[in-house]
Amino acid sequence: MSTELYARHVNDQWVRLLQTLGTDMDYTRCEGTRLTTAAGREVLDFLSGYCVYNVGHNHPRLVAALHEELDRKGPTMLQSHVPPLAGELAARLTELCGKHLVRTVFMSTGSEGVETAIKFARAHTHRSGILHADGAFHGLTCGALSLMGGATWRADFEPLLPGIESIPFLDVVALEKKLATGRFAAFIVEPVQGENGILVPTAADWQRAAELCRRHGTLLVMDEVQTGIGRTGKFLATHHFGVEPDMVILAKALSGGLMPVSAVLMRDEICRSVYSSIDRALIHASTFGENTLSMRAALTVLDILRDEDLCTRAEHSGAMLREGLRTLAGKYEMVQEIRGIGLLNGIKFRPPSSLRLKLLYASFSRLHPAMFGQLMIRELHRHEGILTQICGNDFLVVKAAPPLTASEAEIGRFLQGFDRTLDRIHTRMGFWGQGLALAGRALRPA
Ligand SMILES: Cc1ncc(COP(=O)(O)O)c(C=O)c1O
Repeated sequence: MSTELYARHVNDQWVRLLQTLGTDMDYTRCEGTRLTTAAGREVLDFLSGYCVYNVGHNHPRLVAALHEELDRKGPTMLQSHVPPLAGELAARLTELCGKHLVRTVFMSTGSEGVETAIKFARAHTHRSGILHADGAFHGLTCGALSLMGGATWRADFEPLLPGIESIPFLDVVALEKKLATGRFAAFIVEPVQGENGILVPTAADWQRAAELCRRHGTLLVMDEVQTGIGRTGKFLATHHFGVEPDMVILAKALSGGLMPVSAVLMRDEICRSVYSSIDRALIHASTFGENTLSMRAALTVLDILRDEDLCTRAEHSGAMLREGLRTLAGKYEMVQEIRGIGLLNGIKFRPPSSLRLKLLYASFSRLHPAMFGQLMIRELHRHEGILTQICGNDFLVVKAAPPLTASEAEIGRFLQGFDRTLDRIHTRMGFWGQGLALAGRALRPA
């Protein structure tokens, strides 16, 4: 009944997609890495809500902290006082992100974080241009969407913001050419590209890029919405590369998935360019931005991250996961490469070269470029009880990004399930036959 209501009143195409993939489960209990359905089936989460559940689902300390905060019956969104937890959280974030990032602007979503960065960069530099990387994912509000080149995302929503240009991800030659024009307020970029297939640059490339931004007066803004809060084995992915960005955008995992929150950290002088006088005290704000429950959730997530040493765990588990995947990769012709850092990992596939699989694969990709990947996701879910997804801008990359709390046994369970799935894809006709029938049905107009 609730599915019917959702389809009728919210988004029927989302219901169609989930039902086609067979992933429309009625989850009744979510704890750590495990999702339990009403029918008692257990699913292992290797997607983490696109890097939201770094501390796992419904971490008991987080749930207790929110209960306590509610029981206190204090102001949550009064917007008429100085919210003390916002100051406390901002100070903790400065400690963790970098001492030069002394100011934080709080919003509720990653996209709002990106919008904030665009506005503050423009105000500070008095330039209007914003540079981004090809294949980036920065969010779906109009400003954030302007920083995404993908035609599918943009169609029907243009014109977007003017003055936006892009370069291939960390192509320092192209970067220098653009920056030399003096048009760009900011280079807004993910330190590791997530939706574009988990692309991890070298520290040398990052240091060169940061140096170019500094030389040309363009602010370097790191979008750490997916990569932050320990996901890559350090608090920020930026910390792997030895660069000091002018702004950092955090969201998703910051509040552990129970409350929406985003935070844009920046140098003092950038913040002062916007909040420059008493009449501009609220010139950039958002109703839910500094609400007490989000602030409490984020403070508790930071405590959990520290007390459970989740950055170190992510580094170790990630190395174990990649090693296991690399061993599997050698057995299967369609696996091209294993990529990743910490617990942000991708398995890159390639079209098959053997004649038998080539024809089947071609019929899949003729139907839709994401078809092969989506049917693999379906297979993993249906037969192995593993939840994951393909990347939004590279359909041939499957994500392996469990909560940072994932145990060795759970990583082992994923590896075994993935191995069996790869074996079925490479040796059995059933996967392809059922897939083609299903895809045909799914692509018929409703
Ligand atoms: C790197 C990155 N930036 C920004 C966003 C937008 O965040 P939100 O969906 O919270 O608006 C996302 C969302 O997936 C993201 O992956």
